Amino acid sequence: MALRQDNKKFHTLLNNEWVGSKSGETVEIYSPDDHVVTGEVPALSQEEVDKAITQTADVQANWEATEGHERSELLHRWAEELEKMTDEIGEMIHREVGKTLSSAKGEVKRTAQLIRHTAEEGLRTHGSFIQGDAFPGASKSTKAMVQKVPHGVVLAISPFNYPVNLAASKIAPALITGNTVVFKPATQGAVSGLLMVEALVKAGLPEGVLNVVTGRGSVIGDFVVTHPKVDMITFTGGTATGQHIAKKASMIPVVLELGGKDPAIVLDDADLDKTAKEIVGGALSYSGQRCTAIKRVMVVDSVADELIAKVKEQVEALKVGPSSEGANVTPMIDQKSADYVVSLIDDAKNKGATVVTEGSQEKNLLGPTILDNVTEDMEVAWEEQFGPVLPFMRISNELEAIDLERRNAYGLQASIFTKNLENAFAIADKLNVGTVQVNGKTSRGPDHFPFLGVKSSGQGVQGIGRSIDSMLRDKVIVLNL
Ligand code: NAP
Ligand code: G3H
Repeated sequence: MALRQDNKKFHTLLNNEWVGSKSGETVEIYSPDDHVVTGEVPALSQEEVDKAITQTADVQANWEATEGHERSELLHRWAEELEKMTDEIGEMIHREVGKTLSSAKGEVKRTAQLIRHTAEEGLRTHGSFIQGDAFPGASKSTKAMVQKVPHGVVLAISPFNYPVNLAASKIAPALITGNTVVFKPATQGAVSGLLMVEALVKAGLPEGVLNVVTGRGSVIGDFVVTHPKVDMITFTGGTATGQHIAKKASMIPVVLELGGKDPAIVLDDADLDKTAKEIVGGALSYSGQRCTAIKRVMVVDSVADELIAKVKEQVEALKVGPSSEGANVTPMIDQKSADYVVSLIDDAKNKGATVVTEGSQEKNLLGPTILDNVTEDMEVAWEEQFGPVLPFMRISNELEAIDLERRNAYGLQASIFTKNLENAFAIADKLNVGTVQVNGKTSRGPDHFPFLGVKSSGQGVQGIGRSIDSMLRDKVIVLNL
């Protein structure tokens, strides 16, 4: 069988065969743009998921035994095949998750680059050699060879907002290090994920080295996460889901990249033109549906009016509409998410926030809303909106910003805008987040930089080199001469 059953129905990959579920059950995926069914993927049963994981576990030792350069060559071929499919996959990302076509194709190109870099970096992993004599009572005749070995079967679970990139950023480091993979794509984005896997099959993926389990996370999620043949989990998604997975999974490594409430801290000596531009791009690209979106601005009162006026002008110039029209602010992934954003705006308005500009609402398409004078009692000051609303909190000085940020449940990233770099570094030292950006918006790339969240934003570190490290464990062989 082929990946495509017909125009809308897609199969999933089990042991290099494209198959449906035995029951014939599927999950329908609706485009956020026009609510038309874009695709259907198999809703696998637990029995089918079990088979997929078992097949992957059965071939892991053989895959680990292949030469590192062969695995690297497979990844290079995957990147090539992926690039050839840029238009097709880009079109599907655009339809499935409502990204503009250019940004969807950009995601595919970025992913091919990420895979190539992983293929190179993976060749440079190595263990170490330790002499025993550094410890009292031991001598040079005791020597440890510390090897790096794969965990075994890696379960990769990806979110909707980068259905290709955030899947490949788990799959590529797992494969290069000799792990086999069970890939659970987000339902919204599953077809894009399957097309990305088709490129891997074209590149020569050996049977069973990667299987794809499709179906709703709420139905099969716990089963995959607790499966005894899964040796490691790498997850990107919401904090509630990540925390649930962390509790369910026992005695295996779990890497989590979760939600964020990234602040932009703006001091009175900031370049306000640059700052406004970074804030608007950082907060509203893909309608704010990025973990790293700027989700609140803490601005020193003396420059707040001027900054907000600049941001307002730029925001009001943004085009709001369907992603098919290449708009800047496009429909949110679903109605529930849009309703949540509206509830945060309503709560802030009821508690006295000033509406600087208010976006219109048409189903799940929300125009951007800017709120000023947001205070600590408002939900939007703390909750992750994951949508096009930008709260401004006025502060008297940086100490207030540090205090607010340290009480943030999340700890993904923060931006500081100031011309005083010494001060920026002093503030950066005090923020409990994974990354601090100085004079730039919060964002993940370049993809070889370490990327992590602390507190409710995650555990473990990603980014190409660190993701590779996370897929390996030490194995020590001690030689006693
Ligand atoms: P989500 O609802 O948590 O879903 C993420 C993935 O988990 C999907 O594949 C989902 O499958 C699956 N899932 C759901 N329940 C599960 C369970 N019980 N066991 C195992 N898997 C389960 O997140 P999302 O809506 O796709 O993404 C939005 C959130 O992700 C935001 O909070 C955002 O900040 C965060 N995010 C963080 C990063 C980062 O790097 N820090 C990056 C991107 C997104 P189904 O789709 O089938 O439900
Ligand atoms: O949504 C979370 C992504 O990791 C953000 O990536 O900063 O490149 O948009 P990005």
